[in-house]
Amino acid sequence: MSGRAVDSAAFRQALGHHPTGVALVASTDEDGDPVGLIVGTFTSVSLDPPLVGFLPARDSSSFAAIRKSGRFTVSILAHDQEHLCRALSRPADRRFEGLEWSPSGNGSPVLPDVVCSIDCSLESCTPAGDHYFVTGFVESLEIRRPVAPLLFFQGGFGGFVPGSFVAPSDAIVAESVRTVQHIRDGMQRLAHAAHGEVTAYARVNDHAVAVATVAGPNVPTSTILGSKLPLTPPFGEVFLIGAPEAEVEQWTDRARTAGEELLSISRARLEHARTHGWAGSYAGDTRDGLLFPALTEYGVAGVTPAEQREIQAMLRVAVEDLRPVDLEPERQYEGASLVAPIRNGHGRCALMLRLCQLPPASGSRIEALAAELCRLTREAEAQESVLQP
Ligand SMILES: Cc1cc2nc3c(=O)[nH]c(=O)nc-3n(C[C@H](O)[C@H](O)[C@H](O)COP(=O)(O)O)c2cc1C
Repeated sequence: MSGRAVDSAAFRQALGHHPTGVALVASTDEDGDPVGLIVGTFTSVSLDPPLVGFLPARDSSSFAAIRKSGRFTVSILAHDQEHLCRALSRPADRRFEGLEWSPSGNGSPVLPDVVCSIDCSLESCTPAGDHYFVTGFVESLEIRRPVAPLLFFQGGFGGFVPGSFVAPSDAIVAESVRTVQHIRDGMQRLAHAAHGEVTAYARVNDHAVAVATVAGPNVPTSTILGSKLPLTPPFGEVFLIGAPEAEVEQWTDRARTAGEELLSISRARLEHARTHGWAGSYAGDTRDGLLFPALTEYGVAGVTPAEQREIQAMLRVAVEDLRPVDLEPERQYEGASLVAPIRNGHGRCALMLRLCQLPPASGSRIEALAAELCRLTREAEAQESVLQP
């Protein structure tokens, strides 16, 4: 191919496989009216001096006006702002019609609720084929809403989803709900007797999704149905009870960056769960009070890599409380929560029950509740519709 011009359709098609962010580069013209264009070519260029860049078409009338003003502000669009991108793709003379904007520090338009805004003075403008390569000197920047950005890929818009956070499948959830329906009365009785909350979680890819929850009298339920927790160490060990080693490896790999100690404790938790047929945590304040809700956020809001790092940092701090323990019959345990697998015919766990929000209880009482929880899981296993792996 070298030396020959590439067909423009092939060029577009191949380059469309590379995703880009979406940003508005805007300024004001001599009359103070807003001018600007949507670009997918915005990029950081240099840290010292602080430079950013983008590539406008040489025939862009909007860029001509920006160039004249000598300054611009970049608004990085958020995942929920596709409508703004579409509005700002209208012909230049009515591009800002009906749109809200406010002047940034250098007087250029900035859109509301964008991820980040960057005020620049125009530094250089170099011809690059039918485009210019423009750099801007960064004068100030502001993170306004640290959410996932809008992405453009193969002609369509979307958002960012980290690898281990794929959407749950409706079919698996529906089948799990049917299975759990058979033991609903049992869940209710256990929640009553234990003065706690019993929740069923279905395994959907790399997540546990809450599919049913019941609480004892005066126990406020703490689980949002449909919320999902990533199966990331130290969570989800019961789902790995009958799993082959390769799958356990994948599980531990997800927390590789959280540090060796957390990984070895998570493996110990899995071994403990394999031996006992259930797993317990006795650190209500950290694991259940802090970590569980934080992880549930993943499913509710869509997590950014920065939030993922924050949660891993939290896990590192809480690591000591997560070590598996053998219960002492007479000792009182606070904030216990117990999980037990519901296995299919192949011994694989596709559903689990979790008993949580327990009042302080002795080791022997917790053992008795665990036995009751396991009895309930066996009742569910006896149903025909228990899931495939
Ligand atoms: C997602 C997306 C990315 C774009 N990226 C660029 C770009 O990097 N450079 C460019 O010149 N136009 C880009 N465009 C097209 C311009 O926004 C559009 O052609 C605009 O009309 C150009 O300004 P003008 O009206 O002044 O010519 C993009 C459009 C979309 C929807």
